[in-house]
Amino acid sequence: MSANTWHESLEKNIGFMMVLILLVVSVAMMVEILPLFFQKSTTQPVEGLKPRTALQLAGRDIYQREGCFNCHSQMVRPFRAETERYGHYSVAGEYVYDHPFLWGSKRIGPDLARVGGRYSDDWHRTHLNNPRDVVPESDMPAYPFLANTPVDGSDLGERMKTLRVLGVPYTDADIAGATQAVAGKTEQDAVIAYLQSLGILLKNTR
Ligand code: HEC
Repeated sequence: MSANTWHESLEKNIGFMMVLILLVVSVAMMVEILPLFFQKSTTQPVEGLKPRTALQLAGRDIYQREGCFNCHSQMVRPFRAETERYGHYSVAGEYVYDHPFLWGSKRIGPDLARVGGRYSDDWHRTHLNNPRDVVPESDMPAYPFLANTPVDGSDLGERMKTLRVLGVPYTDADIAGATQAVAGKTEQDAVIAYLQSLGILLKNTR
């Protein structure tokens, strides 16, 4: 073997090796990640997508507070077993108003990306109060307290303003009316409004 090929000296020079590794990784990032910020299919909302109403937004915050995402994903993957069970696979344009997204990575319970409209509001009420009343074998925790906790809407307008900075098209009227819009509603109403809004746009185009 010849004594000193350039590759041998590269392998022995860890500093130079690190520079080259960084170069390779950054080229890969530019090719794979950067285009996602400019492609229409990943940045444009799907047709009919609307910013969440004040009540749905409050429900989404409660969903995060209660950690529902620890057991439920919100992402139907493009595999037959998934689309047969849940409906159309998820597309990026469905999530452009979600900050942060709640895709999740764990499925102790079923995926909820398309749960909107699958059950009645009454079913959800019973289920949230005590899941065992509708699904005897369920090991989902009960959330009965949501039904008698009023929604705290005092800062909802501020939250909408922040979302507007991130590109969600809330109007001044949405923001001004947010607190009023959830007056008298319970946290359970809010969570159900949120669940019923999930994934309904692509539901029937399996
Ligand atoms: C410890 C894990 C766990 C947590 C936390 C959890 N769930 Fe569940 N969830 C389940 C399991 C398991 C099921 C399936 C059995 C059933 O329907 O109760 C389920 C089912 C559901 C369903 C019915 C889905 C379907 O397609 O049938 C909904 C809706 C739901 N959960 C909403 C929620 C909400 C909202 C929260 C937070 C307030 C939550 N879950 C928290 C485990 C969990």
